[in-house]
Amino acid sequence: MKRLLLSLVLVLPLLAGCTKKDNEIAIGEYDSMTGSEATFGLSSNKGVRLAIDEINAAGGVKGKKLALTAMDDQGKNEEAAAAVTRLITQNKVVAILGGVASGRSKAAAPIAQSKGVPFLSTGSTNPDVTKIGNFVFRVCFIDPFQGFVMAKFANENLKLKKVAILRDVKNDYSVGLADAFVQEFKKRGGEIVDDLSYQSGDIDFKAQLTQIRSKNPDGIYIPGYYTEVGLIAQQARQLGIKAPLMGGDGWDSDKLSEIGKDAINGNYYSNHYTTESTDPAVTEFIKKFKAKYNETPDALAALGYDAAKILAAAIERAHDLSGNAIRDELAKTKDFAGVTGKITLNENRDAVKSAVIIQVDGKNRKYVTTISP
Ligand code: PHE
Repeated sequence: MKRLLLSLVLVLPLLAGCTKKDNEIAIGEYDSMTGSEATFGLSSNKGVRLAIDEINAAGGVKGKKLALTAMDDQGKNEEAAAAVTRLITQNKVVAILGGVASGRSKAAAPIAQSKGVPFLSTGSTNPDVTKIGNFVFRVCFIDPFQGFVMAKFANENLKLKKVAILRDVKNDYSVGLADAFVQEFKKRGGEIVDDLSYQSGDIDFKAQLTQIRSKNPDGIYIPGYYTEVGLIAQQARQLGIKAPLMGGDGWDSDKLSEIGKDAINGNYYSNHYTTESTDPAVTEFIKKFKAKYNETPDALAALGYDAAKILAAAIERAHDLSGNAIRDELAKTKDFAGVTGKITLNENRDAVKSAVIIQVDGKNRKYVTTISP
């Protein structure tokens, strides 16, 4: 009797959990929502929630509501891995959205891969991320392309001949993007006059910038995240360096100009979408986002929105809610009309899309040009 009671006590909550879950599909998200890359996760989460609200309002997926559990990795690899483990084992999510910072994705995606849970990154551009395995996808372009984009712009539009590099050696993304830029810029006959490093969390960059100044480059490529880049811009201008600064999507945050102030204005970075687009899908998205959050969506908000919609469409098409079925449908994503462009996931589970060049103007992101693969 005692044993029966005990098993009832154990089984009843499980049953209750099941009935509740019967009309819901659990989706997980993890991202950096605090720390020095916090805007990446906060924005991505806003985009994801807007998409899920719309999907649920329109009847959900397979007649069920999508139920999102979002977790903060604090910008730390161990926390990212722990969050994904918890989402899978405790929340029993059918798929995971997120992973902006490539380093965090490289720590977390192997867990999803080993448990057979589809993992769809919003903004991780480092090529190694999707190489982790066949359950790992992304809705963004990759860094060999992003590096090519800025090297082409530096060479053809800015007509730069001598560029210095300042890379974050503690950040896989930064190292990969710097390498891609160097390769393409040299191929075009450009010269790399210096290639120096810093580490995420540094606040004083004067030694590197002083050395760079002595080489008199006509541009500096700094493919880092906004917190350090804002400080680097300030210190570069204090040292009298006037050469244009260039970067990648890691610059895309309202915080960039809060930290960099005037010093960051006029500089260029590559990005996933432009708020100046006249595509009705984009203008409509921006309108809805502003109505809900009272702010303009940055690139990650747009990528989060696209990722959630692509995942929902794959779940809808899947013959059941198993990891394999959802994975197979994600892999078939083709010509999805996203706000960050038309998304087709290729055989490497990456999206092949155009990039835009943005010129910083306070919190405005001035569209300069589009560069296609
Ligand atoms: N691409 C960056 C990375 O892989 C993350 C990022 C994406 C940052 C989009 C801003 C906007 O680490």
